[in-house]
Amino acid sequence: MSSSRQDRTVELKIGGHRRAFDIDDPKLPDWVHDGALASEGYPYDNKMNKDKYENALEALQIELVKLQFWLNASGKRLMALFEGRDAAGKGGTIFSIRAYLNPRTARVVALPKPTETEAGQWYFQRYVTRFPTSGETVLFDRSWYNRGVVEPVMGFCTEEQCKTFLHEAPRFEEMIVDDGIYFFKFWLNIGQEMQLKRFHDRRHDPLKIWKLSPMDIAALTKWDDFTKARDRMLEKTHTEHAPWTVVKLNDKRRGRINVIRHLLLSIDYEGRDREAIGDIGHNILGDGPDFLR
Ligand code: ADP
Ligand code: AMP
Ligand code: MLT
Repeated sequence: MSSSRQDRTVELKIGGHRRAFDIDDPKLPDWVHDGALASEGYPYDNKMNKDKYENALEALQIELVKLQFWLNASGKRLMALFEGRDAAGKGGTIFSIRAYLNPRTARVVALPKPTETEAGQWYFQRYVTRFPTSGETVLFDRSWYNRGVVEPVMGFCTEEQCKTFLHEAPRFEEMIVDDGIYFFKFWLNIGQEMQLKRFHDRRHDPLKIWKLSPMDIAALTKWDDFTKARDRMLEKTHTEHAPWTVVKLNDKRRGRINVIRHLLLSIDYEGRDREAIGDIGHNILGDGPDFLR
């Protein structure tokens, strides 16, 4: 009997090749390294230049500060959901938006799995209690869409519960929008090799190890199940009143910049500097399920 830890190597089929991936091996395989940025049809073969990114981000963060000032003064509310596969970059994107905002009126909501009490309540109940009041911005790192993707794939809800959710979400969101809240839904999209690269980074970087969850390990072999769940979810919940904004995030820099641009261009806040915001990259940010076809 070997006393060594469990071998976590998985067999994957990627781009017509059979691949073995061992997250515990410190060496990142070449096929992951070389395939990551281009995975799932990403339109650039390099990351955005770091200086260019930092300059663009700073200009956008200044605009976000103006937006928050305007929201506070006018009493308007803003709510944005960030969804995507594990390691899509939800947390980092939210961090870049929140960085210079006044924490008193800009909150992040990242709920853990439901408690027993919450599990017995109306599904939307625990989210509703976190909604913004006048002047507030609330950014959700995952949201009620857990029931559209993670929960059915991982077996945390029944197929029936997921179907009910997909039918109810648009009606629920119609009430949010009708109440006058600026409401955004972002699906952050990454390719399979990029997900493997980021899991591997998490596993071997002491600053990121906290992000690696048992769910990530379980997700390794469930890529196709997640794809199916994602496509069905986008199809059923992309509505006129609450559309999905899909952002390709293999390059986090371009992705974050375009997420912020989309927010700023959607709201006519006082002092908006159209020049400073720049133009959306329509090859990486688009509307609803069609954008991924
Ligand atoms: P994250 O990627 O958000 O850091 P995980 O990958 O660990 O977190 O989990 C993904 C999502 O699945 C989280 O929103 C978590 O709350 C949810 N989740 C995990 N376990 C359960 C469970 N048993 N029932 C319902 N939801 C769960
Ligand atoms: P990443 O793993 O690259 O998505 O980055 C996640 C972490 O990087 C965040 O939780 C922050 O600690 C940090 N980070 C992300 N964006 C920024 C930023 N614009 N400025 C400084 N730190 C950041
Ligand atoms: C994710 O998308 O899995 C997390 O929010 C962490 C991140 O990459 O920022």
